[in-house]
Amino acid sequence: MHAERHPIYLDHAATTPAAPQVIEAIAESMRLYSANPSAAYAEAGKARKELRLTKDVLSGTIGCDRNELFFTSGGTEANNWVFSNYRGQHVVVSAIEHSSVIKAAENHGCRCTFVAPDANGIIQPEAVERALEPDTGLISVQFANNETGVIQPVETIGTIAKRRKIPFHCDAVQAFGHIPVNVKQIRCDLLSVSAHKMYGPRGIGFLYIRSGLPFRAMIHGGGQENDRRSGTENIPAVSGFRVAAELAFSDMALRDVHEHAMIDLLLSRLAAAIPELRLLGGHTERTPGICAVCVPGLSAEYAIANLDMQGIMVSGGAACAAHSAAPSHVYTAMGLSPEEASCVLRFSPGRGTTKEEILAAADALIGLYQKK
Ligand SMILES: Cc1ncc(COP(=O)(O)O)c(C=O)c1O
Repeated sequence: MHAERHPIYLDHAATTPAAPQVIEAIAESMRLYSANPSAAYAEAGKARKELRLTKDVLSGTIGCDRNELFFTSGGTEANNWVFSNYRGQHVVVSAIEHSSVIKAAENHGCRCTFVAPDANGIIQPEAVERALEPDTGLISVQFANNETGVIQPVETIGTIAKRRKIPFHCDAVQAFGHIPVNVKQIRCDLLSVSAHKMYGPRGIGFLYIRSGLPFRAMIHGGGQENDRRSGTENIPAVSGFRVAAELAFSDMALRDVHEHAMIDLLLSRLAAAIPELRLLGGHTERTPGICAVCVPGLSAEYAIANLDMQGIMVSGGAACAAHSAAPSHVYTAMGLSPEEASCVLRFSPGRGTTKEEILAAADALIGLYQKK
């Protein structure tokens, strides 16, 4: 590794760098909207208008009404808010959810049935239906998995939920801004989104709550967000979120092609040199910017540290689990042994990733494999 080489960031599924226009919008918003949106004077009205405008843009992207969208501090809060409403109830949750779903379900006192995926990391709708009990209060299945990128059959699961009259929650954190997400199409009642996975600021997201769904507040206080999520609104982050969404929806098709091409290039380069290479999820439909590969015998922990020394950033699964010694619950749920799961690397290129970066990362990994 040459010291002057620029870092290669292939961990966009963990977080994306805020787009320059987003940073500009945040700074501009801090300058323009200095009043508390709840205040009575005219200046506060400007901040309220900004909030409303952003809700109009965001709700338009997922096909809901502005009044069905509630800002949160991100995906984790949105997911916790969901399960706080189903305390003591039976919930059917996919076993490959992000920890903010699994731990929220457990810690908010839900009676959980976890549904395992098939070997490709897909939650089969029939398996969800089999797990239902007469008193099931909620079904929760993500849109796209954060560790494999595999897209789930949420439309079919939503149809089952509707037929059985059970609310359906979908964690769309890894899908929103990358692939089309429409709450009417997937027939969900609740949908979680986070801005920092689509080039927006960290610390903001939203929960869509279908109008008419009985749903309580989790955070109490001054009555903001229609008395459903109190706390002075984070207008700069709101502005940044809107600009990130406008950008994401304007170049979604281009990014789709670009990121798929980057992943295809990576996989073909790796496969040519590593015969045992295994792509998790095989050739199932994946969200454009995520792929996970198992290189049997090459520890992910070792590879991540070594690639890092070469200025290449990848992960071994969810970023928040990076400091845990336990193998990923997603990979083991897909049937990988703990040893195999400890040899999985997740690559997630983004909007600015170049062919040269992909080839450099692939060659660095091949180098580690050949030394093992
Ligand atoms: C699928 C999924 N859900 C929820 C979250 C948590 O979102 P946030 O970081 O905004 O709290 C993440 C973040 O990694 C995620 O990938």
